[in-house]
Amino acid sequence: MNDSPLHLFGKKLLQAHSIDIEKKDKAFAQRFFAHLDKIEDLFNEIYGANAKRNAAFDALLNSLILHYQQRPLVFKNKDDQKAKQTHWFLSNQITGMSLYVDRFANNLEGLHQKLSYFKELGVNFLHLMPLFESPAGESDGGYAVSNFRKVDAKFGSNADLENLVQKMNQAQMYLMLDMVFNHTSHHHEWAEKAKAGDKYYQDFYYCYENRDLPNQFDQSMPEIFPETAPGNFTYIPEMNQWVMTVFHHYQWDLNYSNPDVFVAMMDNVLYAANLGVDFLRIDAPAFIWKQLGSSCQNLPQAHTLLRLLKQCVQVASPGMALLGEAIVAPYEIIKYFGTDEATAQECDIAYNATQMALQWDALATGDTRIMLAAQDPILQKPYGCTWIAYTRCHDDIGLGYDDAMIERAGFNAYHHRTYLKNYFAGIQAGSPSAGALFSVNPKTGDARISGSLASLCGLEKAIEWKNDNELQNALKKIILMQAHSMFMGGIPMLFYGDELAYTNDYSYLQDTGKSYDNRWMHRPIIDWDKNEKRNTVGSFENHIFLATKKLIATRNSLTILSDVKNTTWMPPHNIHIAGFVRSFENKKLYCVFNYKDTASYLTWYAFKEHGERPSKLLDHWTGQVHKVGNDHEYFVLAAYSFALLEAVD
Ligand code: GLC
Repeated sequence: MNDSPLHLFGKKLLQAHSIDIEKKDKAFAQRFFAHLDKIEDLFNEIYGANAKRNAAFDALLNSLILHYQQRPLVFKNKDDQKAKQTHWFLSNQITGMSLYVDRFANNLEGLHQKLSYFKELGVNFLHLMPLFESPAGESDGGYAVSNFRKVDAKFGSNADLENLVQKMNQAQMYLMLDMVFNHTSHHHEWAEKAKAGDKYYQDFYYCYENRDLPNQFDQSMPEIFPETAPGNFTYIPEMNQWVMTVFHHYQWDLNYSNPDVFVAMMDNVLYAANLGVDFLRIDAPAFIWKQLGSSCQNLPQAHTLLRLLKQCVQVASPGMALLGEAIVAPYEIIKYFGTDEATAQECDIAYNATQMALQWDALATGDTRIMLAAQDPILQKPYGCTWIAYTRCHDDIGLGYDDAMIERAGFNAYHHRTYLKNYFAGIQAGSPSAGALFSVNPKTGDARISGSLASLCGLEKAIEWKNDNELQNALKKIILMQAHSMFMGGIPMLFYGDELAYTNDYSYLQDTGKSYDNRWMHRPIIDWDKNEKRNTVGSFENHIFLATKKLIATRNSLTILSDVKNTTWMPPHNIHIAGFVRSFENKKLYCVFNYKDTASYLTWYAFKEHGERPSKLLDHWTGQVHKVGNDHEYFVLAAYSFALLEAVD
């Protein structure tokens, strides 16, 4: 604390809330003053000239204090424990699974009963897809929230969630929930009030009396769901106005140029923190600032708001890490960790969407050159931050890396993307993949890809074709894809069902609330009889479950796989093999992955140019010890296989 007017004002506020600066709340007060100047600077950067600035800033500080006071002791203690570890989430011993509570276990109560399943697999971190109230039929899988504080009745009650959190804490599991920060459902109370003509709440959204501004915005804003929700505005007859709806027509974009919106959403963030959330997934952060004449994505003000959010969380609930779900171009993703003097002061975690898509690229082509050409932005991740490492999630796969990266590897970007889309949609003759194109935009030629891990890897077709060779290949590809993302750095996030190679589920076509969105094909309804097959030796479910379990256990056992910015790519000795070295102190782990459908070769020299000349290498995956040969002799990787090699002499 210092004598500046801001700090004196802060002190008064704390006293008004009976905060014990000297003793009981000392650590909080220290955090409060340590972050106060930054909070004010960032707040002023966006709202300094706004007429509501003073009242909103006071409301924000009050909200921080109140939420700290309401924070249950058990989570305050957990905050303290986390603070003792340096960046607790960089650990190699956290593995997540993302799941829909209803599709996985019916409801929250059902999920309590399944905690032993996660333990069996080795998963100790759950991302529960949106749980808060969301209107049936207009829900976008829960990403259209009508009440940020009430668990949707279909999952149970707030008390059920509290119970689950308690059980998860006892089992030392971490929890991630979503904060749908960019928009609300059109049935959220704010939107309902806006529809009823309340000007205060109309200012919570982007409302326009005619199409003039919407038309201008539309000129530079891309469409997210061009097939099902074209354009970025929806006419609302109740108020005779146009509202900005970047995603679906029932998801109204929040207007963050209004400071009351930020304060109200920050209050929701802190409410979620006090439920015991370890990781908060900020949904669609790239979209939170809009500006005429721009794409309305990745704008500098969006970053300022996220930094402000981070500062506030550090004060009130410092143990909660922030995941920014920015699925954008590679050099844009990296900015969500913070840039310049704010490096590592924005989101703690981001999805490694670039690497994920590149692995799919390599799988379709058997060629890793584009993956290598695209590593520069990925490797720029600052120390102290990490990735969500994944192969599949509830969303589509966007081939979001730059054309220049494709061209650098020697391909024509247009033809290459067309090939990938046709391959995964199964249009390409002979393709074993059974995915589908998502959000095809005839104006731009863009499309993304839907499909489950197993179906995209060829399992669905192999079963249909009764082709055992294809089936074996599909299983190898599934394990290769999971292994690569798990060992490259970051927190592995499995998508439920993939641990048992669930193929596409087409039942969504019978549900009018879902049939317009083919992402539901890869969001299975878990059949617990099928899951029992994990115990049937010889079944592919058993094979994939055991392999996934072994991948997790292997990662848990190797501290070198913690994400301490210790990944270096190996020079490209063979275009089919992706290889990188994880190093820590004087240890090195060579991780090599063969994306080709036949064996691929690496000269032993590939392991001798990183400061050591090992004579024996232990493969932590197979347990085999390889005697290192002469420089010109070969280490052979079988089709779609990988190795984790460590010098053992
Ligand atoms: C995020 C979610 C996606 C949703 C969108 C709109 O990208 O992952 O499922 O459709 O936000 O909320």
